[in-house]
Amino acid sequence: GLTRHYKFDIKLQNVTRLCHTKSIVTVNGQFPGPRIVAREGDRLLIKVVNHVQNNISIHWHGIRQLQSGWADGPAYVTQCPIQTGQSYVYNFTILSQRGTLFWHAHISWLRSTLYGPIIILPKPNVPYPFAKPYKEVPIIFGEWFNADPEAIISQALQTGGGPNVSDAYTINGLPGPLYNCSTKDTFKLKVKPGKTYLLRLINAALNDELFFSIANHSLTIVDVDAIYVKPFHTDTLLITPGQTTNVLLKTKPHSPDATFLMAARPYATGLGTFDNSTTAGILQYESTTKSIKQLPLFKPSLPPLNDTSFAANFTKKLFSLTSAQYPANVPQKIDKRFFFTVGLGTNPCDQQNQTCQGPNGTKFSASINNVSFIQPNTALLQSHFFGQSNGVYDPDFPYNPTRWFNYTGNPPNNTMVGNGTKLMVLNFNTSVELVLQDTSILGAESHPLHLHGFNFFVVGQGFGNFDPNKDPKSFNLVDPVERNTVGVPSGGWVAIRFLADNPGVWFMHCHLEVHTSWGLKMAWLVLDGKLPNQKLPPPPSDLPKC
Ligand code: C2O
Repeated sequence: GLTRHYKFDIKLQNVTRLCHTKSIVTVNGQFPGPRIVAREGDRLLIKVVNHVQNNISIHWHGIRQLQSGWADGPAYVTQCPIQTGQSYVYNFTILSQRGTLFWHAHISWLRSTLYGPIIILPKPNVPYPFAKPYKEVPIIFGEWFNADPEAIISQALQTGGGPNVSDAYTINGLPGPLYNCSTKDTFKLKVKPGKTYLLRLINAALNDELFFSIANHSLTIVDVDAIYVKPFHTDTLLITPGQTTNVLLKTKPHSPDATFLMAARPYATGLGTFDNSTTAGILQYESTTKSIKQLPLFKPSLPPLNDTSFAANFTKKLFSLTSAQYPANVPQKIDKRFFFTVGLGTNPCDQQNQTCQGPNGTKFSASINNVSFIQPNTALLQSHFFGQSNGVYDPDFPYNPTRWFNYTGNPPNNTMVGNGTKLMVLNFNTSVELVLQDTSILGAESHPLHLHGFNFFVVGQGFGNFDPNKDPKSFNLVDPVERNTVGVPSGGWVAIRFLADNPGVWFMHCHLEVHTSWGLKMAWLVLDGKLPNQKLPPPPSDLPKC
């Protein structure tokens, strides 16, 4: 492969949306940020220079980072943040992935404005497993806040309540015509009739899973999370924060005298407020000469906001391609089985003589196996590598929930979670099966769980409580979908398998940023193997210090 160089200058830029102008943190003054384009097998050297007052860290979401854990990016997990005036070169190679991923800031809520596509083309002279598209178009969903998201989350954490929601969803940074004062900020995709377009969809929104559809057009899904899938047609798709989906859009054979909206709006379960609005862009046939206002405009219909059965049926249609060239290496023999509960809960209010704004005067909190993760003051990976874990983390993440109950029945009276900086330690090459169970304590809710450093196979999913005697019998161990982010179904469970072949410290968390802030996160520590090529190399000399 080639070596490709990029420079990311982190700087402020004034941006106006919804008639609000504000100064936002950007890469190179661009919003959304620049595209990274590379081929499978290429090495990337991305120099990030911090010119702003905030601490910065960038994550290359979904890149496996095989033996390059120092380049993964989550702040206080694999590195200390890049401080004002400092820089860091992220150095990694793209292996066995082709499709779309994205990069985003991985500190506090800065990813609200710091994000952009990663486009991974196949190796030279290797075709797609589908006909070559006429054109490729990245479509990245986001959220626009008129206020400063950093202020929103810090206020929420101080008062214990839920953070204010965004003011708009966006398509390539643009809210579109369904919002006030936004018609001119509309993404337009000009197409020719009778062609196939590859749309590279990315959900970079902070807090919302999204339904997406284009009026009067069907989509063919061919790749998710940079892994090919068995193609299937659908009118509407669901994409969670952290997921990417490549779809083929076949345009109509003749230019119709009409324009078509593409639209996205949330899939939301559980409690809490969310931005219940719709972002839209326009699909415009090139030879249509009349102006848009005169043409009939077709709008897509999207499922109801809490359509959990759509979500379950949609995810059930995803299967690995499993061709001779792209086999699915599903772990068949399992070394370790884990059962983790994920969900919201509460913490005691620590404000003196005051009540918090969370349930019953408590603070909102969130946990995995009842442990709400406390962010350390230094990077976990460094502490591990230099043998300085004392006082930084404990290698005793619980194998099972510390309190069992009927997860989909009545919630328990005690909704308190525990706290800690706990890691689950795995020997090199352990094959893992992990069942993630929604606890439904403060309402059944879908949680898009993201694992750093690995792809996993989604071998099973279901509603209700996972039954270890019955449910594994129906696991798909032949062609399950392989990905890096999966929705733990609202009021249900999902089972994943992965091989721990990547030494390092790997974050796993809900990709709804508010839940991450509340502690719905943990980390795996994968130890070195015996052979030289099974070890984590030493850190680069420019690795930031805390
Ligand atoms: Cu895209 Cu840890 O995140």
